[in-house]
Amino acid sequence: MTASTAAQAAYVVAALLFILSLAGLSRHETSRSGVVYGISGMAIALAATIGLASRSIAATGMGLLVLAMVIGAGIGLQRARRVEMTGMPELIAILHSFVGLAAVLVGWNGYLDVEARGAAQHEIAADLLRIHHAEVFIGVFIGAVTFTGSVIAFLKLSARIKSSPLMLPARNVLNLAALAAFVGLTVAFVVSPNVGLLVAVTAVALALGLHLVASIGGGDMPVVVSMLNSYSGWAAAASGFLLDNNLLIVTGALVGSSGAYLSYIMCTAMNRSFLSVIAGGFGVEAAVSDTTEYGDHREINAEDTAKLLRDAGSVVITPGYGMAVAQAQYPVADLTRRLRERGVQVRFGIHPVAGRLPGHMNVLLAEAKVPYDIVLEMDEINDDLAGTAVVLVIGANDTVNPAAVDDPGSPIAGMPVLRVWEAENVIVFKRSMSTGYAGVQNPLFFRENTQMLFGDAKERVEDILRAL
Ligand code: TAP
Repeated sequence: MTASTAAQAAYVVAALLFILSLAGLSRHETSRSGVVYGISGMAIALAATIGLASRSIAATGMGLLVLAMVIGAGIGLQRARRVEMTGMPELIAILHSFVGLAAVLVGWNGYLDVEARGAAQHEIAADLLRIHHAEVFIGVFIGAVTFTGSVIAFLKLSARIKSSPLMLPARNVLNLAALAAFVGLTVAFVVSPNVGLLVAVTAVALALGLHLVASIGGGDMPVVVSMLNSYSGWAAAASGFLLDNNLLIVTGALVGSSGAYLSYIMCTAMNRSFLSVIAGGFGVEAAVSDTTEYGDHREINAEDTAKLLRDAGSVVITPGYGMAVAQAQYPVADLTRRLRERGVQVRFGIHPVAGRLPGHMNVLLAEAKVPYDIVLEMDEINDDLAGTAVVLVIGANDTVNPAAVDDPGSPIAGMPVLRVWEAENVIVFKRSMSTGYAGVQNPLFFRENTQMLFGDAKERVEDILRAL
């Protein structure tokens, strides 16, 4: 078996492991094995690629390759160890920007190297040269859009710039003009390739990526991150064509399609139009400021909450971003255990975009060893909320906002929410009356059956445990 055949065989194994990894990651119970499959696939892919490269690269080149890998792995390990769960989306966003940048560099290299050494040196047949040029252009375009888009997403998610949407007057026209320019430039480049056109498409794509993501408001950022995930997959697949690497093509396509599907699921969960989100807030109007008079809210303390819970037949806990910030999942798990021991039925209601990344709440609850079978999805629990004695809203806000159902003028109108207000009693754990991620006030806090339990969610749940 030649080294090349061995590498191709290793690539097939790695591709299968990546598919198994995605399948494993789709369920809590199998997610750990999914991660192991992914790591194994990546290790095999790296070993095969380095083995293949070692045949054509001089010793200095190999030295540089290993050095780059050691530095990259060191930084990656360090960042992954330090990152808080809540900082995950921004870390993912900046990692996508690297994939985009790599695709741009591979594209540029694909053009310059073929120009410098001639197509024959690269085993590109003369009649396929035009396809090669189209691949260069498409790879650079997708890569550059992904690069600037991801950098802006990172800056917005890490609050380094404002998360409100940039509303340029002719923004849809600008996006369409950039796409038209890309098509025109591609045709020109395929007919007569030159550096000027490549510079032009890089500049147009960088500006488009920046504008697309800048035009999207904070509430839609989760969809944007998963959309950029998808773009980065397509950028990697384009690089795979240029580098003639089948594994990169397969892996890129897996990431591209799964990212697109995840974005679609999230759009459905938030009742957003998929096309309008990926087209940079196409058709979205700027929100008007809220001058509604909501009335007064009522407060409760931990002791009275404990009394309410002791007498309740059924309790539903709907956690949100605040539970993650407070790291309240451990006392929440203790509270669940204690109440269940007393014969109270306790279940969790999880909104698909609660927290800051898909599955955020599920991961936290699994970490604290809350049994999977009492953790239900929004659609599974919503109809039971009307017959529930007490709902504990722990650090959630937008995902339990009745304005999404009642107020067609609300910026989150139409987003499916947990109908917690239908329960007999609602206790909301948060530190103040301030708004959630979408920046809209929540009329739930002013309802008659709602009481606010102010303070850090972890401390308040611990107070309740003591009182119990
Ligand atoms: P949010 O609407 O973000 O509200 C979280 C609430 O937690 C805040 O109102 C905050 O109020 C409270 N809080 C913060 N720290 C706390 C602490 N230490 N103790 C107690 N409360 C605390 O949460 P949600 O209901 O989970 O909704 C998620 C939002 O994020 C949605 O708008 C969604 O679109 C967006 N988003 C989701 C994702 C994904 S994929 N899940 C990704 C990015 C964005 P105080 O400041 O008053 O305490």
